[in-house]
Amino acid sequence: MAEVSPLHTPEVRRVQFAWPEDQTDKWHHSMPEFGAGANAISLLMTYAEPYGVGQLRKGLVEIDADDELTERAHRLMSQEMSHLRAHKAFNKALISHSRTARVLDRFGKWIFGRLAKRSTAFGVAFAAAFEIVAFASARWAEAGLRRYFTGADEQSATLFLWHLAEEIEHKGIAHDVLLAHPEATKKYKFVLPVAFAVLIGFTAVGGLSLFAFSRHVFNPLRWARLIGWGISFAFVVMPVASTSLAKGFHPDQLVDPPWMKMWLREYDEVSQTMPLWTDAGMGASANTTLDGPARLAA
Ligand SMILES: [Fe+2]
Ligand SMILES: [Fe+2]
Repeated sequence: MAEVSPLHTPEVRRVQFAWPEDQTDKWHHSMPEFGAGANAISLLMTYAEPYGVGQLRKGLVEIDADDELTERAHRLMSQEMSHLRAHKAFNKALISHSRTARVLDRFGKWIFGRLAKRSTAFGVAFAAAFEIVAFASARWAEAGLRRYFTGADEQSATLFLWHLAEEIEHKGIAHDVLLAHPEATKKYKFVLPVAFAVLIGFTAVGGLSLFAFSRHVFNPLRWARLIGWGISFAFVVMPVASTSLAKGFHPDQLVDPPWMKMWLREYDEVSQTMPLWTDAGMGASANTTLDGPARLAA
């Protein structure tokens, strides 16, 4: 584990995307089963992100947080709200094309409506646990970038990878709020399995449901891939999640996957764009033209 660097402060990037109406439900052309799982995550994010932000905001008030923690938490919240906006726009076309997606969207709303009735201590612990799962997801995705995203629509791949990259960037801030909130700290070990069940369970059930209603459902190779991804993800997320229960743990001790952090540096503030992820060159140096790397339409 690396040295703790608690003062790391994330940058707020309002990346703009422009989705064609018919694109977001079938964005992964070569592995639709991967796209189905990612779409389930996208549907959940429009409820998970505002829940986490709302709970951290209430937590900051309860602990009477100092200016530094408040500033860092506000940056995390701004990043999460950017993710929320991007996923909402992405989901619009998805929901309009799929009845299953509409059902899942209502289910996600119901889950987080129930969670919102719990205490702020529960919510802060949930937000910290959510960040741990998000960090592990980023690690898993970066370890198999080409394996998972080759054949995907570049803009959609860029949305998911930008989101994951920023999860790495702000991985420790919700935990700082947790540590400053004694009640939430006490609850963490009980809330972690709940967060795990909600996030992983929804992704699995949602992804399989979306896939089950696609024309690819009878292809055994695709099922084998899904099982393999589930196993490989478990091998990444379980050690990270269990380490987070150890005394003295802080997410800043976890080693970041390197490529996503480097790619984030390529954000262009003027055009509010990231270089598009492409399987040919993995983003920053990919698809370079005389004007520089290919970017999202601003
Ligand atoms: Fe996020
Ligand atoms: Fe996050």
